Amino acid sequence: MSEIQLQQLVKKYDDVTAVKGIDLNVRDGEFLVLVGPSGCGKSTTLRMVAGLEDVTDGTLQIGGNVVNDVAPKERSIAMVFQNYALYPHMTAAQNMKFGMKSASDFSSAEIDERVENAAETLSVTDLLDRKPKELSGGERQRVAIGRALVREPEVFLLDEPLSNLDAKLRVQMRAELLKLHQDLSTTTIYVTHDQTEAMTLGDRVAVMDDGVLQQVAPPQELYDYPANRFVAGFIGEPSMNVFPVTVRRQNGQCVAEHSGFTITLPEREGLDDIAGVEADFGVRPEDITLAENLSAATETFKAEVTVREPLGELLLLHCRLGDEELQVKVEPRSQIQPGDKIEVGFNKERLHLFDMTDGDALYHSTPQETTSDPITAE
Ligand SMILES: Nc1ncnc2c1ncn2[C@@H]1O[C@H](COP(=O)(O)OP(=O)(O)OP(=O)(O)O)[C@@H](O)[C@H]1O
Ligand SMILES: [Mg+2]
Repeated sequence: MSEIQLQQLVKKYDDVTAVKGIDLNVRDGEFLVLVGPSGCGKSTTLRMVAGLEDVTDGTLQIGGNVVNDVAPKERSIAMVFQNYALYPHMTAAQNMKFGMKSASDFSSAEIDERVENAAETLSVTDLLDRKPKELSGGERQRVAIGRALVREPEVFLLDEPLSNLDAKLRVQMRAELLKLHQDLSTTTIYVTHDQTEAMTLGDRVAVMDDGVLQQVAPPQELYDYPANRFVAGFIGEPSMNVFPVTVRRQNGQCVAEHSGFTITLPEREGLDDIAGVEADFGVRPEDITLAENLSAATETFKAEVTVREPLGELLLLHCRLGDEELQVKVEPRSQIQPGDKIEVGFNKERLHLFDMTDGDALYHSTPQETTSDPITAE
């Protein structure tokens, strides 16, 4: 078993607290993605798990053993870095097996066999005799991943391993990493600031901001039920539309009232508790639909198109609704132009309200059936 448990993990550098008491259980065999904006403490967290940074406070367990004071090479982990960290004077094969002999009881033949297997898995067999400068970025990254594979560790730690690659190669390597994990099921923590990578790779995704974990959940759950305004804005491209409203009861119905428009909120338990409060209303661009595609009974709003952004698979319209900016995804071949007035309705199953002060979610219009993960442990 190689689950990883972080309990109230803290990292302080002099006057900076980079990681502020994180609780996280990574299950045996799980692919967990740690995502968040630059500087939020992702690498620091990963480096503590690797043993490359001391833990200031809290407990770190791997496979049920406390490893706070265990040396990196005793932790059965292998780490892949953003900058590959290959030795320039060694060939790919030498890089992959470097340090294996001293760190293990393997014979040269066994190590060679592992290098061959890893090279085959990653399609770099023909490149094994080349030095890093004779390899492309993608090939170097494969070699760096190969070096981790050769160790057959219990835990893989990857810190933005794809960010030096061009967009196309990144998508290809992403699929290869998924396949690799399907084959090996090695417990993995993968750090990225790219929410698309997080959504596509993670069994679960841990969203971090300013040294604090915001939510840990499977990708679709994060998307549909963001625990707070930060997660709602961070996950999803383009971001969820958010604007201030007052929640009120009006003629027996609950409404979100903005200075320029009023939206009826689907009834659900707990809605009365927030009647009367000011809140941030959230709706994703794909949950706004042109009125012509809605049933006649649906409540609609008039918006003015300001910018038209064709994205190939869809057309993104920037609009003004009252004095708010609203982004709307429509079908890509639509001829709607800037200056046009459009009539839109909201998908009533996908409305959100967030506390104006602390940003916590107050309401999702579709109730969440099961909470798979409270923010902390299991
Ligand atoms: N050795 C250090 N000494 C002092 N402060 C540090 C040190 N390493 C990191 N920090 C600070 O800790 C915070 C978290 O840094 P960290 O590298 O973990 O961020 P990150 O989430 O990995 O960001 P990025 O996406 O840019 O890689 C930052 O404010 C950073 O400046
Ligand atoms: Mg980092």
